[in-house]
Amino acid sequence: MTALSSHASHVTNNQVANNNYVQLLFNEPDCCGMAIRDLSIFAKKKTILTVDEVRFPKTGVVSIMGPSGSGKSTFLKALSELMDENLSHQGKIDITCVNSANKTNDRRMSICSHFAMVWQKPTVFPCSIWDNLKVPLRKRNVPRNEWKGLMEHALEKVGLINELDKQWTRQRAQRLSGGQQQRLSIAMGLLKDSNIFLFDEPTSALDPVATEKIECIISDLGKNKLVLLVTHSLGQARRVSDYCAMFHHYDDKGMLCEFSSADDFFNSPASPQSRKFIMQETGFK
Ligand SMILES: Nc1ncnc2c1ncn2[C@@H]1O[C@H](COP(=O)(O)OP(=O)(O)OP(=O)(O)O)[C@@H](O)[C@H]1O
Ligand SMILES: [Mg+2]
Repeated sequence: MTALSSHASHVTNNQVANNNYVQLLFNEPDCCGMAIRDLSIFAKKKTILTVDEVRFPKTGVVSIMGPSGSGKSTFLKALSELMDENLSHQGKIDITCVNSANKTNDRRMSICSHFAMVWQKPTVFPCSIWDNLKVPLRKRNVPRNEWKGLMEHALEKVGLINELDKQWTRQRAQRLSGGQQQRLSIAMGLLKDSNIFLFDEPTSALDPVATEKIECIISDLGKNKLVLLVTHSLGQARRVSDYCAMFHHYDDKGMLCEFSSADDFFNSPASPQSRKFIMQETGFK
């Protein structure tokens, strides 16, 4: 939540788009991390999600909420271009928080390289921790003699280094607990030097202790990266968000219906869908 005041000072052109409740923040290039316009995602010919317009900040945690099937996971997949075979999308996704030094001519390679993804189920490779962590370093052509130091630094950042064996380089990644595997995935994202972290319900299968560790890392990442976090937990969104986005079902498809600062979202939710969502969670009528 600490990042909120610094973002708020950059907020300009604070208008409401198309009769819905998406605040168009981050109009200035130096504070905009991603701009999306007229995005539609299709499964074959059926439209499953539309987003008219939204801009995300360069840094900060954006929680994405909404009912099951409203397109949250599909949205993250479209941004990172990791779409299932039968999905396609059209519209504009401008990713502006990209180091020009990291840009390559291969657009697909360049888009993927700026995202780190952490899904609901841990997705580590069935090999040693070392072999997992070397994947992003090798892709970035980091000299081999720097690998160990960088790996240790990343493992320390996610609070794993003290939980591993002394011989961690040979330890099997899939023998770690679920929460540890999630943190290993985050360490891989750090070694990828990604500017954008996408989390899809990363703690839904974790106990409160493991959840708290991941939430601390998410808050920390948001200080200098853009973090998009899909969550069904209003409590989690309250704890970590700087901004909130709400999806809903409309006309047999998913749609972004609200985007605002976390303060606005929780203190005065504008859309009926957000108000209902908050009321359901808190039990207030
Ligand atoms: N590959 C696909 N082919 C066809 N339809 C799909 C595909 N992927 C997703 N969908 C459909 O798109 C809609 C949105 O799915 P999505 O998984 O994005 O929802 P979600 O908001 O993440 O839900 P949950 O909260 O349950 O995870 C659903 O109706 C789903 O059936
Ligand atoms: Mg989902």
